[in-house]
Amino acid sequence: MYLHGTASINDEGHLEIGGCDTVELVKKYGTPLYVYDMELIKSRARSFKKMFEKYGVKSQVAYASKAFSSIAILQLVHEEGLSLDVVSGGELYTAAAAKFPIDKVHFHGNNKSEEELVMALDHKVGCIVVDNFHELHMLHYLCQKRKQTVNILLRVTPGIEAHTHDYILTGQEDSKFGFDLENGQAEMALNFSLDSEYLSPLGVHCHIGSQIFETIGFVMAAKKILEKLSLWKNEYDFITEVLNLGGGFGIRYTNDDTPLSPEQYVEKMIIEVSKETERLSLPMPELWIEPGRSLVGDAGTTLYTIGSRKDVPNIRKYVAVDGGMTDNIRPALYDAKYEAVLANRVLDQQDEVVSIAGKCCESGDMLIWDLPLPSPDKEDILAVFCTGAYGYAMANNYNRIPRPPVVFVEKGESRLVIKRESYEDLVRLDMSINEKSPI
Ligand code: LLP
Repeated sequence: MYLHGTASINDEGHLEIGGCDTVELVKKYGTPLYVYDMELIKSRARSFKKMFEKYGVKSQVAYASKAFSSIAILQLVHEEGLSLDVVSGGELYTAAAAKFPIDKVHFHGNNKSEEELVMALDHKVGCIVVDNFHELHMLHYLCQKRKQTVNILLRVTPGIEAHTHDYILTGQEDSKFGFDLENGQAEMALNFSLDSEYLSPLGVHCHIGSQIFETIGFVMAAKKILEKLSLWKNEYDFITEVLNLGGGFGIRYTNDDTPLSPEQYVEKMIIEVSKETERLSLPMPELWIEPGRSLVGDAGTTLYTIGSRKDVPNIRKYVAVDGGMTDNIRPALYDAKYEAVLANRVLDQQDEVVSIAGKCCESGDMLIWDLPLPSPDKEDILAVFCTGAYGYAMANNYNRIPRPPVVFVEKGESRLVIKRESYEDLVRLDMSINEKSPI
């Protein structure tokens, strides 16, 4: 069994996280429950920053808040000195609500609405990562109207495929994201921004995928971009201040996953980018990265209570929990794999192989297939590891199931940072059929 971060097993054979007995957490907050190990998040943040500091390379490590956005997590990453990547008005609103320093916020998205761009300009975000011509033109006209300048990065598609699940590839040529580097679109976008009095191009951004275990993709992308930047320097006198290589650093969900450490990813980027800039006689740019999953993914554990069981003789043993695809859609969506233990008796002999079913009316709502466990019974607590990224963030109310609460744990203390959704919350926006419409 692999224990992440501060997780341990106490004398009673219970799983502990952040010095808190998970059985006690369940008594206090109920299930399903997301538990985040604050110390693990902090140490990851420090690991990502460490190599930049060691090599004296100017940098920004921006937390990709799509992985898990809430006021408390943004406050935590701010305390660790990180910047922030937001991709929607909602994520920007959360950043503002958390009082995140807005000059450290980078605004992403492939279809930002006019309203969202205005919101970003009103807040004076640190930069807008411009994704396409529609946005580029709209942003220019909005800035012109307001007589406001804005820092931008141009998101480019460098034509590099990261080796990962198809659904989460974003760097290849046939992608909905970014200006293509090869076919001249990126250059056209640069020209437009250089001509604009209001757009201040700081540099270039790319993101080549997610759950990446090697450095080769990042290095290839950086090299392709730097080659282009060297041409642009000669042609347009454009010198990039910033090279943003995106996020996508992998984590260990199961034994099959073999991620590098944050230090290893970052060090390789620094070494290769400095070599290449030297070769091309370019100044070393600031290096920005955007880890999401690798900051919060394995810091999150979901606790469930086991309910019903169905044994199909000689075929399968189904064990159902009180959550499922509503709090973790990744198995249904990506066939994602997870490890889990019985939190109330971690050390008992694993004498059965069972499959963990969610409670939704959907055959595909299965969290884990063929999991060895010590004969799970009703009222046992199942702890599923590594649910901290894209778990709560992608949670939904299918079957009108309320979203679970989130607690942060550290040094034996727990604090509630997102409340459990109530049934009243579920109907809050509903209107009766005869009610007078407010619009
Ligand atoms: N930057 C950009 C521009 C991105 O599009 C993403 C993720 C990130 C950074 C952060 O990537 P990370 O470090 O978290 O891998 N829902 C999927 C993941 C989608 C990722 C989308 N973009 C999942 O559950 O695996």
